[in-house]
Amino acid sequence: MRTTPLGTTGEAVSAICLGPMYFGSRVDRETSFDLLDRYYEAGGRFLDTANNYATWLEGYDEPKSEPLLSDWLDERGVRDEMTIATKLGFNYGDLPQSLDPELIESEIDNSLERLGIDTIDLLYAHVDDYDTPQEETMRAFQRAIDAGKVRHLGASNFLGWRLARANRIADEQGLTPYQCAQPRFSYYVPNRDADFGNQLEPTDELLSYCEYEELTVLPYSPTLSGCYGRDDRRIPSEYVNTENRVKRDIVSEIAERKGLNGNQVVLAWMAARDQPTVPVIGVSTEAQLEQNLAALDVEFTDEERRRLDSVETMGVFPWRE
Ligand SMILES: NC(=O)c1ccc[n+]([C@@H]2O[C@H](COP(=O)([O-])OP(=O)(O)OC[C@H]3O[C@@H](n4cnc5c(N)ncnc54)[C@H](OP(=O)(O)O)[C@@H]3O)[C@@H](O)[C@H]2O)c1
Repeated sequence: MRTTPLGTTGEAVSAICLGPMYFGSRVDRETSFDLLDRYYEAGGRFLDTANNYATWLEGYDEPKSEPLLSDWLDERGVRDEMTIATKLGFNYGDLPQSLDPELIESEIDNSLERLGIDTIDLLYAHVDDYDTPQEETMRAFQRAIDAGKVRHLGASNFLGWRLARANRIADEQGLTPYQCAQPRFSYYVPNRDADFGNQLEPTDELLSYCEYEELTVLPYSPTLSGCYGRDDRRIPSEYVNTENRVKRDIVSEIAERKGLNGNQVVLAWMAARDQPTVPVIGVSTEAQLEQNLAALDVEFTDEERRRLDSVETMGVFPWRE
């Protein structure tokens, strides 16, 4: 599988990251192992989990994704080949939502234990915390890096200015900066009043900042539950607007012309964005995984690319020439 640079670390990660959020819970163990095997066979080496996956599901109070990955890494003996990303900061069990230094310290240890590894390759702040001074958070991360428990840092669900501010503090204090951002990011753009709680869409500022500072962008929920390519998944209500109707038609047309599924068109568009962009895919069957990985083989003509990219203007030229 081709690779994409991870920020300015000098390292590269698989161009599609596999998100085992529901592995070990909604997706049973055997299927999860098959999916991990298949991703590995396809050359995939980048897994994205979190300390709280998927404790919000009924009947799953304890984290299941990290322990399942631990078993798979162990049984297959491939830990050294994989880039393992996990996250902390969201509430689960008795833990509050926070990036407090003590919570960071204990949750890193808990994730290491659940994952059965010595070092987390990429640790995300899963959500921002406006109550803990950013410097304290960055110092807590630095202590974990100095102790060899973490290698790189990422920020998920951050506003652009908060990410920029954290990295400026890191720069001024000689601390390790965030190397990537993980926003809720798909091809459809949500309505202005859409509310996804703590899940944040990428603002233009976030994307522009990441481009300027060479931070990698890792879109999560990239297919919006597969809605670009299956009749049983309607476009989510927060995304029902005129622009997205135009986008839907463009995706369908291009998919039909190229013999693809709409989800593949969207993932291919994403992975080929000008700035380093690595979709974090969710799948529950091998067919979905195959389809999504095949997005990396899709090549758009200049015209297709222009149509997919320039939809914002919808054919309307500037109001005043
Ligand atoms: N940082 C964060 O706050 C955050 C939040 C959410 C997710 N994530 C990460 O992002 C990953 C993906 O998130 P997500 O599951 O919400 O992604 P998604 O792309 O919105 O949804 C994935 C689901 O869409 C369907 N699907 C995907 N590809 C398909 C295909 N080719 N054909 C038909 N259906 C397809 C499947 O649904 P069915 O299984 O129902 O068939 C699949 O489980 C997670 O595993 C996690 O690692 C991060």
